[in-house]
Amino acid sequence: MIDFKEIIAHEIFDEALGLSVEEIKSMLEIPADESMGDFAFPCFKLARTMRKAPQMIAAEIAERIGESEYFDKVEQVNAYVNTFINRAYFAGELIKEVNSKAENYGKCNVGEGRTVIVEYSSPNIAKPFHIGHIRSTVIGNSIYKLYDAIGYKTVRINHLGDYGTQFGKMIVAYRKWGNEDELKANPIKSLLSYYTKFHVEVEEHPELDDEARETFARLESGAAEEVALWEKFREYSLAEFNRVYGMLGISFDSYAGESFYSDKMPAVVDELRAKGLLVESQGAQIVDLEPYGLTPAVILKSDGSSLYATRDIAAAIYRKKTYDFYKNIYVVASQQNLHFKQWKKVLDLMGYEWQEDCVHVPFGLVSLEEGTMSTRHGRVVFLEDVLNNAVDKTKEIMLEKNPETPELDEIAKEVGIGAVIFQELSNNRIKDYVFSWDKVLNFDGETGPYVQYTHARASSVLRNADEEDIRAITSGACDFTYLNSDSAYSLIKLLYRVPEVICDAAEKYEPSILTRHLVDIAQSFNKFYHDEHILVDNIEEKRAKLSLVLASKIVIANCLDLLGIKAPERM
Ligand code: ARG
Repeated sequence: MIDFKEIIAHEIFDEALGLSVEEIKSMLEIPADESMGDFAFPCFKLARTMRKAPQMIAAEIAERIGESEYFDKVEQVNAYVNTFINRAYFAGELIKEVNSKAENYGKCNVGEGRTVIVEYSSPNIAKPFHIGHIRSTVIGNSIYKLYDAIGYKTVRINHLGDYGTQFGKMIVAYRKWGNEDELKANPIKSLLSYYTKFHVEVEEHPELDDEARETFARLESGAAEEVALWEKFREYSLAEFNRVYGMLGISFDSYAGESFYSDKMPAVVDELRAKGLLVESQGAQIVDLEPYGLTPAVILKSDGSSLYATRDIAAAIYRKKTYDFYKNIYVVASQQNLHFKQWKKVLDLMGYEWQEDCVHVPFGLVSLEEGTMSTRHGRVVFLEDVLNNAVDKTKEIMLEKNPETPELDEIAKEVGIGAVIFQELSNNRIKDYVFSWDKVLNFDGETGPYVQYTHARASSVLRNADEEDIRAITSGACDFTYLNSDSAYSLIKLLYRVPEVICDAAEKYEPSILTRHLVDIAQSFNKFYHDEHILVDNIEEKRAKLSLVLASKIVIANCLDLLGIKAPERM
């Protein structure tokens, strides 16, 4: 892609300024107000070296470069040189680039040769996959896609919560109140009901807790019966998770979860001991983090069983050895901030400098309008139900609007699920939010269906063009002077910024940056569509406009894909 900043910097360059092209380039600003041009060059800094008023310097530069063919106009405003790029030139370069790169537009290879691990979703087995899990799942999936797009080799890990003392409780509960048939027919819901019962019963019978502890100890030492039950819970849970991942179009490269590290923990404990980091506290083995203002990291419980934190230390070391990552990203709720702080500090104390490349990407809580969710009390909203509901609702709306839509079922799935994903990725991830059916299914405003509809609208315009037009626009043989209007130009500039927005979203682990830019593009496209007649009689004009429609359609589809959302051709 043409680097406009580079071109402008070359135009502005002059020995007398005492600045290199690179320096000038870095000083260029994009004015928030479009009437101030596309790129502005501030002259304040030059006033001192050139011993002239900055306004005068700006005026001289504007005068000198004003005639360049790259600009429609150059203006001095106060200490700024405001440049307006030649619109036809800008449009032509951008549109040819987008339409020739097609699904690769927006991608780059800055990450070439480096591996990024993205860990996301990571639900606990034998527990419901509920609405709270959607955040890690879809934010993580989008972060993976963003890194993949900018050229990193990626590894998607689902660090399943498939180990720990709660499985002792689960096994005890199943043995006491469960039965095979019920479990088979409705695995998670029945496991949840046994687990809930355990927590009710334990209030009266505290000895149940001891039984659970012993059962877990047997599981950890590999006792056949306990292991078989645990495997059954894991298998049933995975089947349920995979059904939901399938609906969301999400997959993983590895399901190495907590149990995967059970045989790797003794080595970690030995290493911690050898490095003099373990101390005994009330029978447990801990790493004292008080000097760092943190509560201690518990490594082994008094009964010798290992913990969540221990498994995370083992996992980080294993990942470094196995993947030699450039970054190891954990998309996990902000409730676990303390855990990740402790864990990083322990890795640091172990002498692992690469702990700096381990990044916890936190996100806020989802709560329900009717109060907080609680697995223990069985108050949950299943993610699968949410997705199915969204699809059903979408179908109703579509049937009302356009009952003739072909492939209605398929499209309702793409739109309904897209709506849920889009809403998750619309807000800054750190914010808490209240899950509301009304908001998810509000198809007006800045929503997924709105963006998808814009894509379908562009597709429909292109379907109505004839083959010769399509051939002309895909070959880039258009007269771009017809894309001179403000609405066309605003749209073009938004499309131009997409590669930069993708990099920014990846670097900040913040898909919402892309989501918001995508909403801007959709709004800008719709303005262009309403302001201008596209399928006009003048063939040249029609083709120029169609080429912008095609570029917009491509960019919208590419961005939706990076969010993990489908882009239907019709709606
Ligand atoms: N299974 C955990 C939970 O549901 C999340 C795991 C996060 N990942 C990690 N490496 N600790 O809360």
